[in-house]
Amino acid sequence: MSFLEEREISQAVIRRLPRYYRYLGELLENGVERISSNDLSRRMKVTASQIRQDLNNFGGFGQQGYGYNVKYLYAEIGKILGLEEDHNIIIIGAGNLGQALANYASFEKRGFILKGIFDVNPRLQGISIRGVPVRMMDELSAFVKENDVAIAALTIPKDKAVDVASMLVENGVRAIWNFAHTDLNLPEHIIVENVHLSESLMQLSYKISRYNEEHQR
Ligand code: NAI
Repeated sequence: MSFLEEREISQAVIRRLPRYYRYLGELLENGVERISSNDLSRRMKVTASQIRQDLNNFGGFGQQGYGYNVKYLYAEIGKILGLEEDHNIIIIGAGNLGQALANYASFEKRGFILKGIFDVNPRLQGISIRGVPVRMMDELSAFVKENDVAIAALTIPKDKAVDVASMLVENGVRAIWNFAHTDLNLPEHIIVENVHLSESLMQLSYKISRYNEEHQR
């Protein structure tokens, strides 16, 4: 049994992993082979002890006086995040947001392969985004079965999201990247990641208010 399987890693650590992954990826691109937790701490603006604590969760990647092997750590974190495998993804809703996501080529670099884009608006039928044609929803069921779709991104109006999500699940989709502002209430074994830019903006607004309060005192 691997170190990973023996223990649950806290959600807080998992939330920080993509950021470690991004920094380590940049170091690799710049030809950096090893890095100390102090160096990484300066770059990432996270305390060195937090970094050591986080990375200790996965066993001894670091060595005293040597630092972390960047390539190894990058690969290990990639494995933990499930990035060593490709994931086929479809987008439901080819409006502003759906098209913006489809146009973002960097997901592919991380192994998220855009397989299909679906909508109900016949005017969108046949237009292609980065070579992927928009299909109509009546093709969805067969498409999902034939294309080993792992993830569906939902970028449709919220009043449609619950029904469409259930339909996706009935057709075998196991993970939903939900942008519609509604809770989907799906069975527990379905993985849902909600992304709400407005919540992030509200956090920013909170920080602005705090800053203003402190500086008016
Ligand atoms: P939009 O109106 O440009 O696009 C929505 C698309 O969904 C349209 O092309 C429409 O034909 C299609 N659609 C409607 N019902 C459908 C169905 N049953 N099946 C398949 N396609 C269907 O809207 P936009 O700006 O792209 O926003 C899409 C959704 O994402 C909205 O619910 C919006 O509130 C949400 N949103 C969420 C954000 C977030 O951070 N979570 C940020 C921006 C938008």
